Amino acid sequence: MTETLTLAADTGRDSRVPPPMAMLAELTHRCPLACPYCSNPIALMPAKEELSTKEWIGVFEQAADLGVLHLHLSGGEPAARRDLVELTQAAASLGLYTNLITSGVGLTAARIEGLADAGLDHIQLSIQGVSPESADRISGYGGSYERKIAVAGWVADAGIPLTVNAVCHRQNMGELDEMIELAIRLKARRIEVATVQFHGWAERNKGALLPTREQADRASQTVAEAREKYQGILVIDYVPADYHSTYPKACMGGWGRVGLNVTPSGRVLPCHAAETIPSLSFDTVRAGSLAKIWYESEAFNAYRGEDWMPELCRACERKTIDFGGCRCQAMALAGDSSATDPVCIRSPLRERLTRKADQLSAESSAALIYRGR
Ligand code: SF4
Ligand code: FES
Repeated sequence: MTETLTLAADTGRDSRVPPPMAMLAELTHRCPLACPYCSNPIALMPAKEELSTKEWIGVFEQAADLGVLHLHLSGGEPAARRDLVELTQAAASLGLYTNLITSGVGLTAARIEGLADAGLDHIQLSIQGVSPESADRISGYGGSYERKIAVAGWVADAGIPLTVNAVCHRQNMGELDEMIELAIRLKARRIEVATVQFHGWAERNKGALLPTREQADRASQTVAEAREKYQGILVIDYVPADYHSTYPKACMGGWGRVGLNVTPSGRVLPCHAAETIPSLSFDTVRAGSLAKIWYESEAFNAYRGEDWMPELCRACERKTIDFGGCRCQAMALAGDSSATDPVCIRSPLRERLTRKADQLSAESSAALIYRGR
């Protein structure tokens, strides 16, 4: 902390801004799956614009210098990068805790061994359903289920700790019990049960994916019971259904407070959907340092502190818990990124959102629109 304050004094930076703890490196937008709930932008970054191996390693070095401790290697599908092992090794040698977020497609037993040797600390493996029928239907990729089961086995053989990521929505929430049991069978230490969020491509699938209120309530109950039943065996992280909640989540742990995202071409964002806020522009690591972007850029400072908050949030006792909610959700639902998140029960837009959510979750005939590749 002393170091941070000194650095801040030396550079004239605001000493109230702590260094970031985590960085999400979106190595590529390329992905073999076609999940309808994909939260990546509608327009994906072409491979030719991705940062090179050398550029990514330079970003990791800057991140470590800045104080980042956790590096999440993500995508798209990060295994689509041929240099994944090299990148992991570079990050691990900088002392970063490395976490690979993957669908498993593109990983082999040999590649996982290579990642373990490179120092990979942890893997998060997504599952879309508990049978080939449901998992392959939702991912839009035939054979994905079998591949994931195989990958989980290779991860266990390599001794890498595993978390299963289960994105839940109206199409698979009925399988939640079985997903938790599957995570145990796959020897995962944790499962992250995350209810779908409607950013990027997923926005197009609200009618097919938004859980009903009953499903959302049942999911919360299932998680509570499973936490008790599997205590000491499996840790269950849970992100409940936003639109059926009373208060918004503290998205990203607060804007520009805990972490940052770097897109495949090197743009640095406060969260993965930040580019949906048209009033903001984002700097790239190809033109400026990560430290300067974190501490001084307009985008990162836009929603720090309380000055930007609407009076409703500024006067609210929860402002240090949820920081006014998600800025991108406020943009999408209220048309104003500085508004109180409309999920909040105190928002003047909450009633309208409740009506809309009930209407959308009743659309039983809505078809899945698969992510275009
Ligand atoms: Fe959070 Fe603002 Fe709602 Fe208070 S009024 S609970 S700070 S979103
Ligand atoms: Fe951007 Fe929540 S996704 S602030």
